[in-house]
Amino acid sequence: MRKKIIFERVKIEEVAAEGKTMARVDNKVVFIRGGAPGDIVDIRITNKRKSFFEGVPIVFHSLSPDRIEPFCTHFGTCGGCKWQHLPYKMQLEFKRQQVIDNFERIGQFEFPQARPILGSEEEQFYRNKLEFTFSDSRWLTKEEIDTGEELNRNALGFHIPGRFDKILDIEKCFLQSDISNDIRNWIRDYALDNSIPFYNLRNHEGYLRNLIIRTSTTGQSMIILQVAGNKPEVVEPLLNELGHKFEITSVNYVINTKKNDTFQDLDVVNFAGKAFIEETMLVNGSKNKLTFRIGPKSFYQTNSKQAEQLYKIVLEMADIAKTDVVYDLYTGTGTIANYVAHRAKKVIGLEYVPESIADAKVNASLNNIDNTEFVAGDIKDLLSHEFTNEHGNPEVIITDPPRAGMHPAIVEMLKEIKAKRIVYVSCNPATQARDISMLDEHYKVIELQPVDMFPHTHHVENVVLLELR
Ligand SMILES: C[S@@+](CC[C@H](N)C(=O)[O-])C[C@H]1O[C@@H](n2cnc3c(N)ncnc32)[C@H](O)[C@@H]1O
Repeated sequence: MRKKIIFERVKIEEVAAEGKTMARVDNKVVFIRGGAPGDIVDIRITNKRKSFFEGVPIVFHSLSPDRIEPFCTHFGTCGGCKWQHLPYKMQLEFKRQQVIDNFERIGQFEFPQARPILGSEEEQFYRNKLEFTFSDSRWLTKEEIDTGEELNRNALGFHIPGRFDKILDIEKCFLQSDISNDIRNWIRDYALDNSIPFYNLRNHEGYLRNLIIRTSTTGQSMIILQVAGNKPEVVEPLLNELGHKFEITSVNYVINTKKNDTFQDLDVVNFAGKAFIEETMLVNGSKNKLTFRIGPKSFYQTNSKQAEQLYKIVLEMADIAKTDVVYDLYTGTGTIANYVAHRAKKVIGLEYVPESIADAKVNASLNNIDNTEFVAGDIKDLLSHEFTNEHGNPEVIITDPPRAGMHPAIVEMLKEIKAKRIVYVSCNPATQARDISMLDEHYKVIELQPVDMFPHTHHVENVVLLELR
């Protein structure tokens, strides 16, 4: 048997990437799952690498004076809001520092001092979308197991971190408005009262699979219930009864017989109400209000209010003139493109999900915007000299790729297009720094603005303004 390595009475120094914390033992770095800077702990090492260790705290000798009381009863078990025990101000400092660290470590370029991070006005109930999973294999606490009693194993909630098959039953989640808690709990109770089988994620048996709840600042709501087969006699009474209990704008279900819960490739049955909900956004704090339609498959920034602040920054950095052609890369449902359109000659949005492009076009016409165009396809294949010849060479490029960052071929093309400004929005400062390194020969970093879209998580958004050298 391998010998257990335990480091005793170690002081946790700081927050590290991916929500971990960090300590140093004999000049070696230890990344720790859990804890807070200032805690004195014993750490059990779970992984030994050449230049660092990974571990978990097993004994807390003293707790950091900076700690605060977490507000959620699920804290510690749920993987959701792991930083509730840290004051929000401190979370924001850590996030800003994370951006700077990534830029220093990965980026081989000069950059100015990062602006102060823009915190989220709402620290709780800020999400407009949550996804819950049904399971007949509920996560049991040690206390529950110790009772030795026969326990109800059905759950509707979130995955236990690192466990695809174990679900934590959620009673109250502080991430989405309370209608979400009420709907979820009602559906679980109805299913239990009516003995509708919860899904088993290992052997793929059972009926109720997954529940997505979307809400908007306009007070509208949408549910998408995923079930494992075509049984109208089960799903219809459930959704009818739900419709009597709650005022839900859009009630939908999906029959999913696949092994996974993605439903982009499946038909969505609009059972009651509209096929979409609406979100509104003020443009740059003006009276100009945009309305966006959000369908069951549409992407929309998850923190609606903070998205408005994020787009304001994009607009400010982009500094678009009325004669400018703008490209909005990774446009999703065209929200940024439509948001900045009033300043530009025209904006072209590029995105590979055709349904999102269709939504983007609907959103443009809904808001009487006639100077946006949207093109569906992989940007790596779309962005070419033929494309710029056809659509006009852009003066400004806005890019908002997923966590993986931009494909090297796209970065190469940006070097050839030579737009005078690039505004790079990213949810992963590591890949952002990597991409900017590749652009360094042609572009200079002018501004760095970290933004917090997700309080109590380690995630950070960062907006960078690049100017052609
Ligand atoms: C972070 S989201 C962008 C969100 C959008 N800018 C907004 O604010 O609503 C990234 C988008 O890039 C799209 N995407 C990812 N890789 C792509 C690629 N290679 N070509 C085109 N679109 C891609 C995804 O479908 C997703 O909609």
